[in-house]
Amino acid sequence: MQILVTGGAGFIGGHLAERFLAEGHDVTVLDVMHPYYDLGIKQRTLEGHRETAADAGTDYEFIEGDIRDSDLVADLVGDADYVFHQAGRAGVRDSVAEPRVYDEVNVDGTLNILDAARATDVERVVMASSSSVYGVPEYLPYDEVHPTTPVSPYGASKLAAERYSCAYSEVYDLPAVALRYFTVYGPRMRPNMAITNFVSRCMNDEPPVVYGDGTQTRDFTYIDDVVEANLLLLETDAADGEAVNIGSTDNIEIRELAAVIRDEIAPDLDFEFDDRHDADAEHTHADVSKAGELLGYEPTHDIREGVRQFVDWYRANRDWYEQLVRAS
Ligand SMILES: NC(=O)c1ccc[n+]([C@@H]2O[C@H](COP(=O)([O-])OP(=O)(O)OC[C@H]3O[C@@H](n4cnc5c(N)ncnc54)[C@H](O)[C@@H]3O)[C@@H](O)[C@H]2O)c1
Repeated sequence: MQILVTGGAGFIGGHLAERFLAEGHDVTVLDVMHPYYDLGIKQRTLEGHRETAADAGTDYEFIEGDIRDSDLVADLVGDADYVFHQAGRAGVRDSVAEPRVYDEVNVDGTLNILDAARATDVERVVMASSSSVYGVPEYLPYDEVHPTTPVSPYGASKLAAERYSCAYSEVYDLPAVALRYFTVYGPRMRPNMAITNFVSRCMNDEPPVVYGDGTQTRDFTYIDDVVEANLLLLETDAADGEAVNIGSTDNIEIRELAAVIRDEIAPDLDFEFDDRHDADAEHTHADVSKAGELLGYEPTHDIREGVRQFVDWYRANRDWYEQLVRAS
């Protein structure tokens, strides 16, 4: 199978590409290498792809390019059996500063993928959507019929992109699925997230800094579960035209996350508290029963297991990764 992974130098796309290569598929990665966080992480991801491809005997190509380049996108989509579209601008807070860029990349970039795909007989386009499409909860956990009222330009851009995917599926019979990811974490994650902050502070005997009072809740979804959900979409058309939540086994408060990490690394530390950012969601919690029914998705990593694995990876890669976390 020939698989195009957009955003494949990034965190989620990087893991996806690696797994597809290891499973024996040929992979092309398209990524603009955006310096939103240190490019050293992406370089290591690409190096890992080359090594995995060599071990597995699969074809691998990296194309440095922009999803806003419709000709380039048309060429690459035209060669692909499957497209896993992960490229995008991902920071909620930065979207408040640069809403139009988020629209151009996340919405127009996705339209380029969809337009290219409907001109071919691609098996499926899977796009990365987000729990940010829900915005203010009317009830929790969110199921997919919950109203979508995003509270950030990022969430609005993801919702528009996802609606286009579903509409293209409806009117052009394009097999397209949107996966609404709920806060994904794991090795090589973006260094400016709560988990990386907590781990790095605890490793250095500094109290973790919790924004707000720490009662905000999240589903933290371990990267392996997200990869597994995407892999299932190589096998089934049951979710074509749908948006589907991809969350975790449990929902926890941010201060509980800080405690889990603190207990794992430095049990004697206290916490510090700082102001919460308005664009950050107060609560997210996924009902994953639709993913279970349509895809057979079953998250396996609870937060303690996921944190343990991430801390192990962090320790093994501390020499280069920690400085990026500290600088972010
Ligand atoms: N990480 C999460 O918790 C999370 C949650 C919900 C949704 N998502 C979505 O999942 C996808 C992947 O997120 P991530 O955490 O891996 O982020 P990431 O920033 O690590 O990866 C995104 C990649 O897209 C690339 N990119 C940005 N603009 C591009 C463009 N114009 N053309 C080509 N490539 C471009 C970047 O260089 C980067 O490598 C994103 O679409 C994001 O919105 C992520």
